Amino acid sequence: MHRTHTCGELQEANVEEAVTLSGWVSKPRDHGGVIFVDLRDRHGITQAVFNPEIKDFKEAEKLRREDVIKIEGVVKKRKEGMENQKVKTGKIEVVVNKLSVFSKADTPPIETDERVEANEDMRLKYRYLDLRRPNMQKHLAFRHQVITAAREHFNKEGFLEIETPLFVKSTPEGARDYVVPSRVNPGEFYALPQSPQLYKQILMIAGMDRYYQVARCLRDEDLRADRQPEHTQFDFEMSFVEQKDILEFTEGLYKYIFKKTLNITLPKFPIFTYDEAMNKYSTDKPDIRFDLFTTDVSKIVKKSDFGVFKSVVESGGLVKVLNPNKDFSRTELDKYINYAQTFGAKGMAWMRVTKDGLESNIAKYFSKAVQEELIKQTNAKPGSTLMFIADKKSVCNDIIGRLRIKLGEDLELYDKKEFRFCWVNDFPLFSYNEDDERWEPEHHMFSMPNPEYVKDFEKRPEVVTGDLWDLVLNGIEVGSGSIRVSNPKVQERIMNFIGLDKKEAHEKFGFLLEAYKYGGPPHGGMGLGVDRSVALMLGTNDIREVIAFPKNKAAQCPMDGSPSKIDEAQLKELHLKLEAVKKK
Ligand code: AMO
Repeated sequence: MHRTHTCGELQEANVEEAVTLSGWVSKPRDHGGVIFVDLRDRHGITQAVFNPEIKDFKEAEKLRREDVIKIEGVVKKRKEGMENQKVKTGKIEVVVNKLSVFSKADTPPIETDERVEANEDMRLKYRYLDLRRPNMQKHLAFRHQVITAAREHFNKEGFLEIETPLFVKSTPEGARDYVVPSRVNPGEFYALPQSPQLYKQILMIAGMDRYYQVARCLRDEDLRADRQPEHTQFDFEMSFVEQKDILEFTEGLYKYIFKKTLNITLPKFPIFTYDEAMNKYSTDKPDIRFDLFTTDVSKIVKKSDFGVFKSVVESGGLVKVLNPNKDFSRTELDKYINYAQTFGAKGMAWMRVTKDGLESNIAKYFSKAVQEELIKQTNAKPGSTLMFIADKKSVCNDIIGRLRIKLGEDLELYDKKEFRFCWVNDFPLFSYNEDDERWEPEHHMFSMPNPEYVKDFEKRPEVVTGDLWDLVLNGIEVGSGSIRVSNPKVQERIMNFIGLDKKEAHEKFGFLLEAYKYGGPPHGGMGLGVDRSVALMLGTNDIREVIAFPKNKAAQCPMDGSPSKIDEAQLKELHLKLEAVKKK
């Protein structure tokens, strides 16, 4: 071993011990003939002192930041007033008598401490330097702790960790597949799994009872701060269970992880139906850290003379209102109007609440009776300003939901350090894709319709809810799951309904339909986003902060240069001819 201790270990109790430490040089300083170096590794920093009388002093003078060295010396207590309270080893220093240099470092192109943050592509190009930053080291160590805690809980609850293949048949789950050509099967491709969905279902048919995996999922979709082409899930499946069993298990899992890693006791996870969530929060990912609710006032404003609201309601749209219990100035209101418009709102109407009724340039279009109803519905008190969004359903919900979050932030309605989970269940099973003019699964096609709809879901797809749910943390979706369709006849009907004819269904999913013919238990499970969970636990939304080697916004890795061209010989071996079609 090139060390007796790590750089984060030595304390006053070690004073006068002979020690050997190895690590990276940070902040070498020459103090009038004596050289001080902060020696750094993942565990911490220890101050090393080189006095001019030692043999290796000339070498010490040449030390530059990020050189990798070994020091042998004696632990000494620092002089009074020279202690550093900020680091664990701040009471001692190592007085060096021998220095060995493992490797000299060029001047690093980005900083390895927290002083300046480089731009993203530089950070990703020099990720090995970026990962030397204490924050990133903390993030990856924390991720490890979360995954370890999760494994402990799964193992304790009788789950088997089973790996499923990375080369699979395309299992569409809403995103595009990444595909891999097969050399030994010319012209044929594997897909990389968007998740282990079908394999975990088949493991239940195989009698594995309880399965989990820390699974890599690969999806060719547009990237965002909380979306990467490769992400990791705690993927699990349980046999002979109903929805409530899975919710209970998952709540227990997160409670265990939070206690173990952050020493936080999570409060109970409330359950909202999809309709409740949409009504109260205007989103299926409610941030329940604060009680500011949205109110649908479409029916009331229909009775007004305000043309904008009336025409929205008459054409099937919604008018929703927020009552922030606060009076805003014109400038502040303009700021919120602007905010709503950046997300596609046509505008944001507002009315002040006074003791005589509502006041604003549009108040005249609202009769006394309508005003009273609005005030009553929103429970508004004089001194508040009602904020209205009117638009088609999806746009209205999106904008008013965002406005709610913005007000929550601006008015400091919640504690940023708090963690509030909730469940949203009874999701619609299908949604209508207006571009393709067809119904598609809201989650994926393997989720069971709620029992009352199994008989005839094809006849009234717009009202069908599924035995499927999401888990939401502080307004971010961290997981989703469902009870699966374990009856192959129902599964085939769902496939047909979303546009796969019998032949296609059998071509694509024959193996699954066939497997269920040999006895499938009732089962269900979830996929929990590891990257999102860890990021939120660390107080960020950006999952790149908790992934060792993420891709940039263009799905590239600036460090290794992937994706990249492959040479003719490789293509030939794969029986492929390249004719890249340029993007328009
Ligand atoms: P779903 O597609 O909802 O469900 O994914 C489950 C959870 O995984 C996370 N997630 C992502 N995280 C980062 N980048 C992405 N591109 C990304 N996509 C998803 C989210 C999400 O809630 N097989 C089903 C689960 C099941 O039914 O068991 C599935 O994958 O946190």
